[in-house]
Amino acid sequence: MKHFLDIHKTEQSDLRTMIDQAIAMKDARNGRPKGTPDDETPLAGRMVALIFEKPSTRTRVSFDVGVRQMGGQTMILSGKEMQLGHGESIADTARVLSRFVDLIMLRTFEEATLLEMAEHATVPVINGLTDASHPCQIMADIVTYEEHRGPIAGHKFVWSGDGNNVCSSWLHAAGQFGFDLTFTGPETLDPDPRAVAFARERGSKVEIVRDPFEAAKGADAIVTDTWVSMHDPESARERRHNQLRPYQVNAEMMAKAKPDSLFMHCLPAHRNEEATNEVMDGPHSVIFDESENRLHAQKAILRYCLGV
Ligand code: CP
Repeated sequence: MKHFLDIHKTEQSDLRTMIDQAIAMKDARNGRPKGTPDDETPLAGRMVALIFEKPSTRTRVSFDVGVRQMGGQTMILSGKEMQLGHGESIADTARVLSRFVDLIMLRTFEEATLLEMAEHATVPVINGLTDASHPCQIMADIVTYEEHRGPIAGHKFVWSGDGNNVCSSWLHAAGQFGFDLTFTGPETLDPDPRAVAFARERGSKVEIVRDPFEAAKGADAIVTDTWVSMHDPESARERRHNQLRPYQVNAEMMAKAKPDSLFMHCLPAHRNEEATNEVMDGPHSVIFDESENRLHAQKAILRYCLGV
């Protein structure tokens, strides 16, 4: 049984297979109506549980559509309306769900909840985001980069802003796919040192540069995310805005990157905060391709987990 819990916990060769399969499956749909099934329906007869303990637009819709395109069925469950972690242990929930469904996708807060679900489930579990990482998003982002610019290995990515869970998954991907990552942001919001160490151990160049314009020099892509994440307390908002304002991705920062650089953001965005409208809607931006590619990348992840 194969879970998809994190990019750094998945074999490099499997990650590459998933990216290539995602691109091939996207090409194979060839403009057909979104609600129609694929030519192959490897999830026929399969039931997938999509559990959300946090809000979601992209993850929820892309998993639901992806499963259906591959011939399977979904049930979308809200953590609040389940016994998850309240009346019932995570372990018992995992055991019970495993009697009904073929795969569990979980978006939750603590990484420990995801790991406990995976330990006790007898079906594969996919990480749909925790406070620690967001691997499905970065698989979609690699699909996006490669469809625009070709192989990602050896390229320079710049993460500007908060070294959050999405940043950790970018660092895991740097180590697994062989690209370099420069973090630029305030010291108080540095990325998880374990993610930095993983990328460096795998031979990626990971730099921490406090000056955002210096960091952006020669970048192949500049990536950012919201200044206040879903797991951050509302009380931190003002302090974070003050700390992160110098790291806003704007036209001046993009001008330091390579002329054909990409601007990436996993969305949802707070426009004109972490990135200006000019950049988000400008010629470097691939943000809506990133959203669409959640569908294609996750279809490949589902096939990997189910071995179909
Ligand atoms: N990027 C992302 O995970 O979006 P949602 O929170 O809308 O699922």
